Amino acid sequence: MATATAFNWDTVVDYAKRTETRPPKTQYELPGVTVEDHLGVPVAVVPLWHAVVTARLSLPQGEAKALKRAQERLTRALEEVESIYPLTPSGIFIQVAYGLPYFTDYIPAKITDKFMPRALDDGRAKDWALIDAIKFPKDPATIILEHNHISFHFKSDYNDHISDVIRALFHPGTHLLNGIPVENVYVGDLFSVTSIRRGFAGRGMPRTMAQRLRIPGADKIPAGAMLFMGFTSSHVHGLAQGNLPSFETLPGYTDQTPESYFAHGTIMHLSHIAIDLAGWYSLDHKDRLHRMFNPRRTEGPEHLSPSQAPETTTFKEQLEEDARATGILGHNAQMQFLSRVDKNMTTVYGEEIPKGTVIFLRQDFDTVENPFEFNADGPVSPVPVPGVHFIGFAPTAQLFEKMRKEMDGVELQKKYNLPNENTGFTKFLVTTHRQNYLEPPRAHRSFPLAELI
Ligand code: HEM
Repeated sequence: MATATAFNWDTVVDYAKRTETRPPKTQYELPGVTVEDHLGVPVAVVPLWHAVVTARLSLPQGEAKALKRAQERLTRALEEVESIYPLTPSGIFIQVAYGLPYFTDYIPAKITDKFMPRALDDGRAKDWALIDAIKFPKDPATIILEHNHISFHFKSDYNDHISDVIRALFHPGTHLLNGIPVENVYVGDLFSVTSIRRGFAGRGMPRTMAQRLRIPGADKIPAGAMLFMGFTSSHVHGLAQGNLPSFETLPGYTDQTPESYFAHGTIMHLSHIAIDLAGWYSLDHKDRLHRMFNPRRTEGPEHLSPSQAPETTTFKEQLEEDARATGILGHNAQMQFLSRVDKNMTTVYGEEIPKGTVIFLRQDFDTVENPFEFNADGPVSPVPVPGVHFIGFAPTAQLFEKMRKEMDGVELQKKYNLPNENTGFTKFLVTTHRQNYLEPPRAHRSFPLAELI
C-alpha cells in the first residue's frame, strides 16, 4: 500500500525566494550588496537607510524560564520578518547585538566563564573580548557611556521596511508587513526601548539632507558624497571582507575556534558623533584629503574614493615619518597599522590574505538627529545636527580601544608637537554616546547562552 507523504504546499510559490540568498553564518555580512567602480576604485553600495534601536530587558533577572521563552519568541519574530522581507538590501537586514550588562545580569557566571570569548594578551586568554567602552582622551566631559542590554541594527534600501519592522517588533497591536498580517513579530513586552537612532548612507543623501535642513556647510558637500565629510567610506579595500572580523577567523586575537559557541560572532562598537561641518569645509580639498587619508595623497576633488588597496596602507614607521616631515596625520593612516594585517596571513579557514588587508569593518551611517530620534535617557532637540551613528566590528573590544586611541592621536601629537587641526579630523567631531556590544553568530542571535541555563 502506498504511503504518500502529504505534499507541502507552503513553499511552492514563495515570492520571498525570488532572490534566494543563503544566510551567512555571521550577522554582519550583507548578501546582495553590490560593488560600483569609482574612477577605477571598487566601492560597496551599502544599504541606503539605517536604524538602531537600543533597549534594556524588562524580564526579571534570574528566571531561566522567562529568558528561554523570550529566546524562542525573538527567534520566531526574526524568522517571520525574514519570511516576508528577503535578506538583501531590497528586503531588510537585522543585526542583534548584546551589551555587557546582558551577560552579567542574565547569564549565570558558570556559563559565561565557560563560553565568553576572551582576548589574547601575549598569546594568553585574559579578559573577555567584550569590555565596557571607555572615555577617550578627546571625548567631551559630557559623554554618556551607555549600558544597554541589547541593540538592533536595521538596514534596507527602503525606509518603510525599517519603519514597518520596528513598529511590528516593538509596538503592541495588529501589524502588517508588506501588507501581510504577522502573528509572531511583536516582542515589545520583553524590552524597554532606550533609543531609536535613524540615518542614511550614500546616493548623494548627505548634501540633499543638509541643504534641505539648511545645515551650515551643506553647499560644500560634494554632490555624490555618501557621507557628510565628503569622502567615500565604503571602499571594498577599506572594509573587512567575508568573515575577517569574527572572533576566531584570524589567529592571535581571541581564544575562539571555529567550533566555539561564539564562532562567527564579533565585537561591535556603537557611538554617536556630531560633526562640525562648517569647520571641516573651511579647509580646502587638499587639506581635507590629507587629514582624511594621509599627507602624501595628491588626488583632485573629483576623486571622492581614493584607492585603499593593500599597497596604499600606511604602517607605523610611515605614519611617524608623515608627522615628522609634514606635521599632518591622516585619519585612516592613524589606525591602519592596527586595522590591517602587517604580514601575509592565513585565516583559520585556510584563506590567504596579503599584507595590508583590512580586518576592521565599519557600517556607520549619517544622521541629522540631535542626538537620536527617540531617547528615553536624555533630551532630544529638534535642531538638526549633522553626525554619524558609528558602528565598527573587530574581533576584540581591546583592539577597538587601541584604534580609537590612535584616532585621538595624543601620543604622536605630543611627540611631534602637532596642532589639533593636523591630527586626523577629531577636532571637528564631538562624540556624545558610546557602548561596546557582542554581536553573536546568526545561529545565536536570539538571547545567546539562554538555552544553556
Ligand atoms: C565622523 C566620523 C567618521 C568618518 C566620516 C570616517 C570616515 C572614514 C573614511 C572616509 C575612511 C577611509 C575610506 C575607507 O577606508 O573606506 C575611514 C577609514 C577608517 N576609519 Fe573612519 N570615519 C569616522 C569615524 C571613525 C571612528 C569613530 C573610527 C573608530 C576607530 C574610525 C576608524 C576607521 C579606520 C580604522 C579606518 C581605516 C580602515 C582601513 O583602511 O584599514 N573611523 N574613515
